[in-house]
Amino acid sequence: MCGIVGYSGPGNSVLPVIEGLSRLEYRGYDSAGICLKNDDELLILKKEGKLENLKAIIESGNYYSHTGIGHTRWATHGKVTSENAHPHGNSDFAVVHNGIIENAPALKAQLMKEGFEFKSETDSEVFLVLVTKFFKQTGDTLKAISLAYKQIHGNSAFVIIEKTSDKLYAVKRSAPLVAGVNPTTREAYVSSDPFALIGFAPDIYFPEDGVICMGESTPTEAKMSFFELDLTPSSRYKASTNLMTMDATSKGPYEHYMLKEIHEQPALIDKLAAYYIKNDGRHILDDLNGLKTDMWHFTACGTAWHAGLVIKNFFEQNNRQRANVEIASEFRYKNPILNKNEIGMFISQSGETADTLACQELCREQGIKTYSIVNVEGSTLFRNSDKNFLIHAGVEIGVASTKAFTLQVLTGYFMSKAMEGQLDNPALFNEVKLLSTRIAELCENAEKLISVAEKIYAQKGFIFTGRGKYFPIALEGALKLKEIAYVHAEGYAAGELKHGPIALIDENIVNIAIVGPELYEKTISNVEEVKARRGVIVVVGPENHPEIESIADIYIPLNFEGLNDLSPLYVNVVLQFIAYYIAKLKGTDIDKPRNLAKSVTVE
Ligand code: F6R
Repeated sequence: MCGIVGYSGPGNSVLPVIEGLSRLEYRGYDSAGICLKNDDELLILKKEGKLENLKAIIESGNYYSHTGIGHTRWATHGKVTSENAHPHGNSDFAVVHNGIIENAPALKAQLMKEGFEFKSETDSEVFLVLVTKFFKQTGDTLKAISLAYKQIHGNSAFVIIEKTSDKLYAVKRSAPLVAGVNPTTREAYVSSDPFALIGFAPDIYFPEDGVICMGESTPTEAKMSFFELDLTPSSRYKASTNLMTMDATSKGPYEHYMLKEIHEQPALIDKLAAYYIKNDGRHILDDLNGLKTDMWHFTACGTAWHAGLVIKNFFEQNNRQRANVEIASEFRYKNPILNKNEIGMFISQSGETADTLACQELCREQGIKTYSIVNVEGSTLFRNSDKNFLIHAGVEIGVASTKAFTLQVLTGYFMSKAMEGQLDNPALFNEVKLLSTRIAELCENAEKLISVAEKIYAQKGFIFTGRGKYFPIALEGALKLKEIAYVHAEGYAAGELKHGPIALIDENIVNIAIVGPELYEKTISNVEEVKARRGVIVVVGPENHPEIESIADIYIPLNFEGLNDLSPLYVNVVLQFIAYYIAKLKGTDIDKPRNLAKSVTVE
């Protein structure tokens, strides 16, 4: 979703701000803008569409400024237009904003009554006008920001610059914000994502809600100061070192990040196994040995929710512990029944998904422990959890989540094994090694799946089916296909088809049926039902089964032997490739599919 980068220092802000925005492009956006502070003005350049459009404007001029802020906007309030793009500014201040000001309509009406004018349809401009109004009353920028912040409701991060100084100001509520400093080059930074600051700011700071950050570059140093809303100095921030590397920004030999990230999976699986079974992660898991809780409450969104459904099976079947898996945007509003001896478990790649964060807050308020399976160390989810189980997937740039899903599920599997005290059982390491080997084989032979995609990509709709542990994979396979290929796809429990969706089946519909060795006959019967109604049948099933050969239009044989509980992850990689190759044939923007954002920081 929206991305923010701000710079103040002796150099030209245009370069780090545009580079930072380029790094945040993967998050999804529909317009971009920059504000450059000069001696006599705050110059705003902004353009709808890709960052390239803004870059073209910048390249056509000779822009230089020591202080600048930039933004990539993912529209929430107001159409995708240059006017609604950020920054929003006037002669005194410029503002960029991530999030939503929930009471913007009421505030805007009041401000208009008071005679203030608005140039855009956005909620964000309300904050600009509030800061301007309170500055007129107080003559003090920090006071004005504090007063404006107190008026707004909802989750937001703001960065503000002013005409009268080279300072950067930032403040947030339940939205990602990082401040940074480079002591050597005397540069101060702010961003919505530490990824934008790699190589620019080695010292980074994560402020808590309601802490105003003020960055400045003096002739001797770069400084980041923190204030409470009453403007007393604040210590409510976490200082850290930016350890992220830029490796992830290269696609290597692959045409898309998604393809690269699918291919990274075997090596990442091996690394995660070593981390949790033998190395640094071991002590984190050892704490779970013998753990019993009355109920695990999993909440997550999208692909991460599907990961929760797979992990639920591990906890219930192997540990005989109850687990409830809910979509975060549902859980948070249903007044859930939570008791003390229960654990809230949050799954999130980004650690910044607004609904998931809200569920965590709700669990904390009710006094239950909160654990997270998360990729981004230092993210809001990470910082607010009692315990974190990192998935170590590295940066995932493709908007469609692939490697994160695999590693989320695997982390859940290790947790389940840790509860059973089975981490030292050599069978575990061998099983995981077998998984990475089989996935590596799939990757080596992936091009064979191009011909599968060619046969089905033009069909009208896709129904993915599976039973038991493959049901969540049917959901995930359908989600991956719809989000990157823009075709209608649904995931169903195979036994559920005849209760409604079978009405859709005709020769234009493809049934991608996951047929595991478990409940084999029953699942094959479901495939027969679809075949009888002229559906196109693709079976992803166990190898050497001649009857599948005779039923299926396309048979993708797999060796399930020895994978046991991990076989859903193996099957899922086949579905990742099928989605990828269908999207490629359709010519969509695979890494940045339309309307989607990598990190969904609004509710
Ligand atoms: C789908 C996808 C999304 C995310 C969801 C949650 O490919 O990526 O469904 O899984 O938006 O995001 P995180 O895991 O960052 O909380």
